[in-house]
Amino acid sequence: MQTDKPATVLVIDDDAEMLASLRKTISKRGFHVLTAHNGSEGLDLLRERGPDVVLTDLRMPAIDGMSLLKASRTIAPDVPVIILTAYGSVDLAVEAIRAGASSFILKPLRSSTLLSALDAALERRCLGIDAGERPAAPSLPHIVGTSKAMQGLADLVSRVAPTTAAVLIEGESGTGKELVADAIHTLSDRREQHLIKVNCAAVPETLLEAELFGHEKGAFTGAVSARRGRFELADGGTIFLDEIGCLSPSAQVKLLRILQNGEMSRLGSSATLRVDVRVTSATNRPLEEALARGEFRDDLYYRLNVVKVHLPALRERAEDIPDLVAHFTRTYCDKNHKPITGITRQAMNMLERYPWPGNVRELENAIERAVVLARTQTLCADDLPDEVRALPEKPNDLVIPIGTTLRDVQKRIIEETLKYTDGDKAAAAGLLGIAPRTITRRLSPDRDDERGDPTA
Ligand SMILES: Nc1ncnc2c1ncn2[C@@H]1O[C@H](COP(=O)(O)OP(=O)(O)OP(=O)(O)O)[C@@H](O)[C@H]1O
Ligand SMILES: [Mg+2]
Repeated sequence: MQTDKPATVLVIDDDAEMLASLRKTISKRGFHVLTAHNGSEGLDLLRERGPDVVLTDLRMPAIDGMSLLKASRTIAPDVPVIILTAYGSVDLAVEAIRAGASSFILKPLRSSTLLSALDAALERRCLGIDAGERPAAPSLPHIVGTSKAMQGLADLVSRVAPTTAAVLIEGESGTGKELVADAIHTLSDRREQHLIKVNCAAVPETLLEAELFGHEKGAFTGAVSARRGRFELADGGTIFLDEIGCLSPSAQVKLLRILQNGEMSRLGSSATLRVDVRVTSATNRPLEEALARGEFRDDLYYRLNVVKVHLPALRERAEDIPDLVAHFTRTYCDKNHKPITGITRQAMNMLERYPWPGNVRELENAIERAVVLARTQTLCADDLPDEVRALPEKPNDLVIPIGTTLRDVQKRIIEETLKYTDGDKAAAAGLLGIAPRTITRRLSPDRDDERGDPTA
């Protein structure tokens, strides 16, 4: 969807000097620039001139950056807005992201950061990533789950996969980041080429650069022969950089060069090599934290984060647990030649209630263990790990032993519901779907069960 026409950037800042310097930096890069000295002028230009991206200061008199952002979501919802802000107002900037800003840039400004953020916003716009509702997405290969969160993820991943955009995958440990990286490669037209994976935390820092970019003979002690790096091996395909937050500052500079113009050099050589590699990366912890501490380059962050895919923790999508349990039960039954056909309700309740700090990986391990241990064809509570079984029943659940008479069951349910509503009979009746006087009647010692409709 690239066009030859230069993209138009609308810049809004009440500081005239700043505005002039921004205009200079941005137009030097070949963009068409519109400037406004205040929010209302900015909104007029947004309406009349249809810019491709808006860059606005946060603190301005009258209409500030935040109000401008909100108004722009109505006037031109698909135009990305980048917020400029001083270090002191990071909280506000985060609020702006929640209100729909595409990113924020901290002052003092580095021109490389600004240009990276502009490029990323424009690329995202070409992909239609920020636009509204889409038809249902196809499911992703090997990824189980139909919760709303997983449907949104499948939609985003299936739209971004066929492009060459860099994707940053974020999520707690065990949420399926590597599976998403696999899906992106498989759904892209690079699927016949290599997908090279590098875990930046697993390779010692001193070796990582040689591993990624290769080296010439004698580049360092022990470099007895020249070696191609992972980027060269991935040429034409995709590289997945796991634990990207562990990249050293000098490796960050080299990666930035590749992302900016596809150029790199082996260690110990000044010859420039060109590589065509799609970069996906993953992190357990939000990179923004490393950014704020100055440990991660912000210009690199924008290049890597053209599209962010956030994987929700399993406890935030417990409705996916039954499907995952079925999937892993099948997988490990096949592997272990065990004929398991079901799971007890009690065991499933426990699995659904447990918060899974290790996410899907922990659930997978628990099911593998249960399948191996199971003595019957039905998985039961005894087959589950202690920590999963140990969780107390939710206070709102009511356990009634088999053998309780119907009369006593009704009495218990009414009593427990009254406890839950602090004795409020009307509220309890509402929860139970019966009339308040029925409660009084059911609890009276001389009630007659044969009299009248039980829900009357
Ligand atoms: N939605 C899912 N459907 C099926 N299997 C899944 C799903 N999510 C994760 N898994 C499985 O859980 C395990 C962990 O997934 P993966 O390695 O992709 O997680 P991760 O986020 O990369 O974890 P880490 O941060 O620890 O590297 C894998 O065995 C994977 O196959
Ligand atoms: Mg992983």
